[in-house]
Amino acid sequence: MMRKGIIAANWKMNGTHTEVTQFVNALATFAAETPGTNPVEVIFAPPAIYLDLAQGNLAQQSSNLATPFSLAAQDASQHDNGAYTGEISMAMLRDMNCQHVILGHSERRQYFAETNAVIYEKITAAFNHGITPILCIGEQDQDNQQGKTTDVLTEQLALAIEKLSENQKQQIIIAYEPVWAIGTGRTPSIDEIEKIHQKIRSIFTQNNDTIARDLRILYGGSVNPDNASAIFKCPNVDGALVGGASLKIDSFKQIIKAY
Ligand code: PGA
Repeated sequence: MMRKGIIAANWKMNGTHTEVTQFVNALATFAAETPGTNPVEVIFAPPAIYLDLAQGNLAQQSSNLATPFSLAAQDASQHDNGAYTGEISMAMLRDMNCQHVILGHSERRQYFAETNAVIYEKITAAFNHGITPILCIGEQDQDNQQGKTTDVLTEQLALAIEKLSENQKQQIIIAYEPVWAIGTGRTPSIDEIEKIHQKIRSIFTQNNDTIARDLRILYGGSVNPDNASAIFKCPNVDGALVGGASLKIDSFKQIIKAY
């Protein structure tokens, strides 16, 4: 397997200055203790106000890290600068050494009315500033029950399929997160997860082998230390985007170890 796995922690709107500091330091210690051929990359997405704090702590430790460890913002604007009160731009993320941005999370789609078109503008802005997007896609419970999962995912991926270059398609990270599995303790069966990931790989790459070989597709939605290793055995699952179980360092470490 040529693809390096990714385990990403999405803290959403949780955490304090102290908790972010403790989490980064504990992860750095853990990463330094597990040298050798580590198959994963760890990404931490704290609330944006703490990215600089996390970056500062990380910079002090990173020389002895065997596991690559980097940061993601949970969202950013499609605009480069200007009169957009409250917003943060991709250029600012880059300026603060943040390497990734989560885009199109279902909570952004649901509570902030983000459309596929806006999310695509954000993907473009991210690439323009050298930030790697982690594009979240996923169907609602009702879509799933009505057998519309593939249609929904195809629609959510359409602009990226149509407009991104081959190189960008190799770099983008996709996170499949069924909306009904987020924060609920419910997950699709292992067979379903593998089937959907395989489907996403073929839809997104349009059977271009080079892209298919490199594209990393994470699973998200109620990943925890008990279900992680079964999920990671799926050949088309390249890691996880973890919400609730990433808030405690011990459960997050167990998920990293499960990969
Ligand atoms: P969860 O969240 O792990 O708490 O289900 C995942 C996510 O929303 O990224």
